[in-house]
Amino acid sequence: MDAPRRNVELKARDGDPEATLAAALRHGAADQGILRQKDTYFAAREGRLKLREEDDGATLIAYARADEATARTSAYHLVAVPDPTALAIALDAALGTVVVVEKFRRLLLWEDVRIHLDAVEGLGTWVELEAVAPADSDLSDEHRKVAELRAVLDMKDEDVVATGYAAMLLAQGAATDRMVSLARTAMDRAYAPYSNFHVGVALRDETGALHFGANVENGAFPQGACAEAAAIGALVTAGGHRIEEAVVMADTELIVPCGGCRQRLSEFASADTPIHLAGPEGVRKTVTLADLLPYAFDLEEAQS
Ligand code: THU
Repeated sequence: MDAPRRNVELKARDGDPEATLAAALRHGAADQGILRQKDTYFAAREGRLKLREEDDGATLIAYARADEATARTSAYHLVAVPDPTALAIALDAALGTVVVVEKFRRLLLWEDVRIHLDAVEGLGTWVELEAVAPADSDLSDEHRKVAELRAVLDMKDEDVVATGYAAMLLAQGAATDRMVSLARTAMDRAYAPYSNFHVGVALRDETGALHFGANVENGAFPQGACAEAAAIGALVTAGGHRIEEAVVMADTELIVPCGGCRQRLSEFASADTPIHLAGPEGVRKTVTLADLLPYAFDLEEAQS
């Protein structure tokens, strides 16, 4: 198997792309022109699945999650796609789309470092440095080149980010509508013959994958389980670790998670995680986990 590819990367918000371009050219970077890229992320059961469309063709890319050990040693599948529009429609119907990232990218090269001047739909302008390291590199050369370019292009500490564009769009709510429709599907499938109260929950994990669950009641009443428990079980089973966003839906004035489920959510969510309280037509109110569960019990804190 091929050795894993290693990059030294740096990304920063860019308030003045023309000045950045001029500085890069002055420093001797070679302009390779502007590429248009559209990345569509689908809800894969394992790892990530993305369709990359560029001017000169399209590729379906299946890859392991970056936070899993396997991602460092293997697991890229690249498939050339002759009809990306039809494939996107089919995958959306079968799996659902998580997020679409569209950008114009001006590519420059300087001493094997790729400089990306990106204009990303919904996110503004960015500069990205990518120094691809040979297999035997100790990375010091790559770090030196990136540091030099960082100074030349005036990439300031406060503008540097570690987040990918897809994650930024998701944090801005790009997946909320799809989560609402998943929660509606779950709600419609709820097994609640005793209370007749149907609840659907959708969760987004740290990789952008969406999970959902419904309440499942039982003739022995205490054995019934809430929709949150089912959705959290689906997230964990699929390999997720964190809840980044949640939709809780019921056809009542304003559904609020029960006390037990607030505690369940808090195991995987943060104080500022958005929880959308929804009816069948959509979000009615958005609160945070801290709004629902102030003074949350935390085992680690309790033991310290
Ligand atoms: N229920 C949930 O699924 N989630 C909540 O947060 C509130 C309550 C379910 C449990 C039971 O099946 C029904 O709603 C009535 O309590």
